[in-house]
Amino acid sequence: MEVVIVPDAKAGGELIAEAVAQLLRRKPDALLGVATGSTPLPVYEALTAKVRAGELDASAARIAQLDEYVGLPAGHPESYRATVLREVVEPLGLGPGSFMGPDGSAEDVQAACAAYDAALASAGGVDLQLLGIGTDGHIGFNEPCSSLASRTRIKTLTEQTIKDNARFFDGDVGQVPRHVITQGIGTILEARHLVLLATGEGKADAVAATVEGPVAAVVPASALQRHPHATVVVDEAAASKLKLADYFRHTYTNKPEWQGL
Ligand code: F6R
Repeated sequence: MEVVIVPDAKAGGELIAEAVAQLLRRKPDALLGVATGSTPLPVYEALTAKVRAGELDASAARIAQLDEYVGLPAGHPESYRATVLREVVEPLGLGPGSFMGPDGSAEDVQAACAAYDAALASAGGVDLQLLGIGTDGHIGFNEPCSSLASRTRIKTLTEQTIKDNARFFDGDVGQVPRHVITQGIGTILEARHLVLLATGEGKADAVAATVEGPVAAVVPASALQRHPHATVVVDEAAASKLKLADYFRHTYTNKPEWQGL
């Protein structure tokens, strides 16, 4: 796992957007796995700026959703489908046909989960999966003690995650759905490159456990240690509890430029 410490969220967004741009120059129809929430917004903004400045042609890119609330009415503005369309697909000038995600309003949720797992595989797999991290160490919505081999399935959000996400529902925990469909940890680990972005002091404990703790289901993001190409980009605040911070700074400063992320 490579850990890159950046000064702030904007710098993290620009660094990751450049890695995505390099991927799209190499493979224009790459399948990009995207997360929602606050953390990835600087990445989407930086990517959109590159497209608008004519530095990047993202027109053939394909977008795959990481997770989805269960039970929100279709088109609800906080559904992750609506969020990804608004924050990624539309700003990049892509059509809805470029986008895939699980159906959170399906009657048969289990069938919808299996169908999404199969659709990801038949699309050739995710080339780069962008991840955020929960304060409890979740990735996607694989809450603590999720199986490290799990596939896309329904999960119940923890009380902490419901509280954390209430800000998207007028601060009302009662409006936050209790269930989600999430790519499983086993599914996420199949992406060819995992890039986790964490910003802010509130993520510092989860980042330290992910990077320097043991691989353990109680910290789902620690599964990244088992991936051959995982990059963790953290701002100074999120890095504040890393014992090896100076080592990570040293290795990144001395990294050959051609390697990219
Ligand atoms: C959302 C997702 C979650 C978030 C995490 C952090 O699609 O997969 O794992 O990345 O809850 O959320 P923020 O970035 O809002 O702190």
